[in-house]
Amino acid sequence: MAKIKKEKKLNRLYKAKEKVGGGITMLSIETSCDETAAAVTVNGRQVLSNAIYSQIDLHTIYGGVVPEIASRAHIEKINQIVQKALDDAGKTLDDMDAVAVTYGPGLVGALLVGVAFAKAVAFAKNIPLVGVHHIKGHVCANYIEYPELEPPFLCLVASGGHTHLVKAVSYTDYEIIGRTRDDAAGEAYDKIARAIGLGYPGGPKVEKAAHNGDPHAFEFPRAKIAENPYDFSFSGVKSAVLNTINSYKMKGIEIDEKFQADIAASFQQDVVDTMKERVLMALDEFGMDKFAMAGGVASNQTLRAALKEAVEGAGASFYCPSPILCTDNAAMIGAAGYYEFINGKRAGLDLNAVPGLKLE
Ligand code: KG4
Ligand code: ZN
Repeated sequence: MAKIKKEKKLNRLYKAKEKVGGGITMLSIETSCDETAAAVTVNGRQVLSNAIYSQIDLHTIYGGVVPEIASRAHIEKINQIVQKALDDAGKTLDDMDAVAVTYGPGLVGALLVGVAFAKAVAFAKNIPLVGVHHIKGHVCANYIEYPELEPPFLCLVASGGHTHLVKAVSYTDYEIIGRTRDDAAGEAYDKIARAIGLGYPGGPKVEKAAHNGDPHAFEFPRAKIAENPYDFSFSGVKSAVLNTINSYKMKGIEIDEKFQADIAASFQQDVVDTMKERVLMALDEFGMDKFAMAGGVASNQTLRAALKEAVEGAGASFYCPSPILCTDNAAMIGAAGYYEFINGKRAGLDLNAVPGLKLE
């Protein structure tokens, strides 16, 4: 009872603070995969700092993220990154009104580092703790880039672990229209990159190689899902690419730069076409006039340009954050965390990492 009273009092205090323009200053933490990140935001959309330590170099030799290495690296870096975020913002922990943290989905050991750190801050400073869904964070990166953007809008979230077409119905509520049946788009990029010898991380490398290739050199299958035309599947195109590579190898044909470029460009064309088709269909069927992109794959310039042209051609507005806000970062968790916070969401000190956390 006393706890509820205290929370009500705190909520009134925050509301009063917002009214006088003080703003909610929030520390946010993101450690769901291979980026150790912390940020300080005011009212979600104003970013005072956005510190990121990317572990890519640690995982490159293994050709992908090694969960145990990721968790250890988060433990080693989290203190420094949070301190950097506070220093860059010119703030201390005493200035924080709340702390937000990604608690899923992601790698359990990686998530736990951020969750434990955030809980320690919340306890030590006696400030509210907010658990944030990683995908909601990706979507909310758009609020940082576009101060005028308001829900509802259609959003394509394409990352290493997820490919979702969602309706952002409010700042905190989402309806899933389509999702991948197998690999995520980023995962497919990573696998294709490995198959043609480009290494990890695949997305940027495939994109670069594709610039010199012919997008129609190979015609890979465009997946269609009978039960839900908005769902995605990237396993068919992945198998088709692998079969093409194997048949070339069996014929003794060398995998040279031209071949790499043509495979990369043809695969990318497949991704662009399947995404464009679903987005245009959804804009029309759901009568949406705004479309946003989010997630690591949204940093792909070819995909951005193709979707921008298609969406604007259909009379809708196009939004896509800068590449640094597309890939994993904590500012986006601050944006999503702020809206959860003003919506009254609070986590207890028993908050746990939920690796398979669902959006609904
Ligand atoms: O959102 P993100 O940083 O982490 C996850 O939540 O998964 O996304 C990482 C994924 C990786 O699979 C990476 O290959 C892909 O995003 N990615 C790209 C590009 N940059 C990163 N995919 C295509 N083109 C890019 N330029
Ligand atoms: Zn992500």
